[in-house]
Amino acid sequence: MAYNMFTALNATNLVQDIGLAVPEPAFIKYRANSALHARVMDELLTYVRNFMTEIGLPGTTSINDVEDYFRAMARNRAFGAPGTTPGNSTFLLFLLARELQPKVIVESGVWAGSSLFTFRHAVPEAKLFAFDLDFGALLSRLENVDYRQHDWGTDDVRAKGPSDLCFFDDHTNNCRRVWQSYERGFKHVICDDSPDIGEIPDFRYPAVPSISMIENDRWVEGDTVEWNWHGRRLRYVFRDEDTFGAKTVIKSLHRFPSLKRLTGMEDGYHYYVRLKD
Ligand SMILES: C[S@@+](CC[C@H](N)C(=O)[O-])C[C@H]1O[C@@H](n2cnc3c(N)ncnc32)[C@H](O)[C@@H]1O
Repeated sequence: MAYNMFTALNATNLVQDIGLAVPEPAFIKYRANSALHARVMDELLTYVRNFMTEIGLPGTTSINDVEDYFRAMARNRAFGAPGTTPGNSTFLLFLLARELQPKVIVESGVWAGSSLFTFRHAVPEAKLFAFDLDFGALLSRLENVDYRQHDWGTDDVRAKGPSDLCFFDDHTNNCRRVWQSYERGFKHVICDDSPDIGEIPDFRYPAVPSISMIENDRWVEGDTVEWNWHGRRLRYVFRDEDTFGAKTVIKSLHRFPSLKRLTGMEDGYHYYVRLKD
């Protein structure tokens, strides 16, 4: 008789099949008993606080902030929709914005509005500017958001204080966005779509040259990478001039840590970038 792997595993594996799948919110990937859940939340909190202090913020994230995040996401209609910011990234966006308490937040790349909703609920008092070339995919138009349908590079929104924040999820050149943020007086920037070389094949439109590419000196003028993407062959050639000298205005940069092993939610390709004064 042919070997059946599933019959063999059903006999030996300790996981029980307890019935039909249960409907869950998109951000709930598993349910644990309450004592285990509490231990995981403690670990998550320590992890997040360590990240905040590593990037130079106070690290005052509390369990209330974490609970606020999950309460807010329960009402985020765009959470988990195709093309939106991954769950773990929304988690860190929420907590980073809470720590920073910016007066002004700029988001470029709104799409369905999941990250925008996240910022709106993290810091309800902040002045929030939302840029996109088309708002057709937006699932809910939020109150107290200034929607602007053009490229932010052509706009004159400027930072008002030292904790103001820019978030880029528009799949355009990360380095140009950093330079534009610096010119407009921002000190805190978060860039998405910033893959390292082995992660580029996950993308049709990586935000190249990405923060990841200028993090070390691996890439030099003319370096070329090619990859397959949905039946097409893509190519990117690194050019120094496309980096807009971004490295010269960066004080420090930190990739968002992976949280998947604790939350079960998806990680993204984000960097927190602190700009020079
Ligand atoms: C990956 S989606 C953003 C997802 C969004 N953060 C969310 O959570 O729903 C990328 C968005 O960038 C927008 N985009 C592309 N080029 C842009 C530009 N130059 N300025 C602003 N937005 C742009 C696209 O229209 C698209 O809505």
